[in-house]
Amino acid sequence: MIPFRDLKTQYQTLKPQIDRAIQTVLDEGQFIMGRQVHELEETLAEYVGVKHCITCANGTDALLMVLMAWDIKAGDAVFVPDFTFFATAEVVALVGATPVFVDVDEDTFNIDPVKLEAAIQQTIQEGRYESRVIIPVDLFGLPADYPAIEKIAEKYNLLILEDGAQGFGGKIGERKACSFGQAATTSFFPAKPLGCYGDGGAIFTNDDDLAQKLQSIRMHGKGSTRYDNVRIGLNSRLDTIQAAILQVKLQAFIDYELEQVNLIANLYTKKLKDIVKTPIIPDGYYSSWAQYTVQLENQRQRNILQEELKKQGIQTIVYYPKPLSQQIAFAGLFYISDNILKTKDLCDRVLSLPMHPYAEKEVILKIGEAVSSSIIKSKSYHMQRG
Ligand SMILES: Cc1ncc(COP(=O)(O)O)c(C=O)c1O
Repeated sequence: MIPFRDLKTQYQTLKPQIDRAIQTVLDEGQFIMGRQVHELEETLAEYVGVKHCITCANGTDALLMVLMAWDIKAGDAVFVPDFTFFATAEVVALVGATPVFVDVDEDTFNIDPVKLEAAIQQTIQEGRYESRVIIPVDLFGLPADYPAIEKIAEKYNLLILEDGAQGFGGKIGERKACSFGQAATTSFFPAKPLGCYGDGGAIFTNDDDLAQKLQSIRMHGKGSTRYDNVRIGLNSRLDTIQAAILQVKLQAFIDYELEQVNLIANLYTKKLKDIVKTPIIPDGYYSSWAQYTVQLENQRQRNILQEELKKQGIQTIVYYPKPLSQQIAFAGLFYISDNILKTKDLCDRVLSLPMHPYAEKEVILKIGEAVSSSIIKSKSYHMQRG
């Protein structure tokens, strides 16, 4: 079986350092908000290039906490891409606000700035909701089009919350993912570009006031002491053990993992670019390759390919089979902007291939070969049948 993301090999490679880091936490006994949490926050903030990093229990809470701190509530509209993981819009509904789903660009899979502006204008015209926030997602590791999104946010006086759950390590020029917008978040879910061994997340910001509020929100809205509560918050902290693991993994991520996934992506693209639509990285952009996602001609071809690869022991995943706007959970909760056709089409045609920094070159070439022979076989079968 060729795994989709090989976390076992990563652990074996880093085992001595990770075991030592965990043992140190056990010896020191500071399981909640131990020194490793604070050290990690400093290193992460420095790496990303922002003033503050506030770690928390997961990437969903990270988004939620920012919306809570900004007092986003019923009557507010928050613009989110229609093609993303559920959590991006779930948090909007959780604070009582209304997610407005916006179509994505079919080359980058990220929110389409032209359609974003159209959705904002439509929301303003209808007058039912007050437009407050845009949550662009760095889908599959590629930063969203922040230069365009920033202009729109400024024009309509909206806040930007970068959902960098999949984007940690990406860049536009020298600007790193998780440094865009007034606040940005990431997830340390094990399969993410930088993952821990359980759940974890972080928020990044240059705003001192917001950082202070977030530190309060993650500990039950604490004030000057733990038993002084000045607002309603959550219990959402990153465990010290997870922080210690992340300290080791961040170093490997910076030293070679990020470069390695980019080499693998190049290998895939070279092998597959004439067979299927391979991911497009715009000039000046750098991806952290949370996923390597190809586009097939139609749903049938995609499903046949996935079945064929499965038979050959190659694990693949469809991210995502359904637009968020069509999820039952959002029925009646939102109102839809006109055009979400690209998302629907992508849901039918995408397939993500195994991608992780420990994949061997031969294995990637083997997967590339399996994809191209399956496509060629299915095409000639159809030609024969006329
Ligand atoms: C785009 C996006 N946003 C948010 C999240 C939520 O992160 P977590 O699973 O850590 O809560 C994820 C995780 O899958 C994600 O992919």
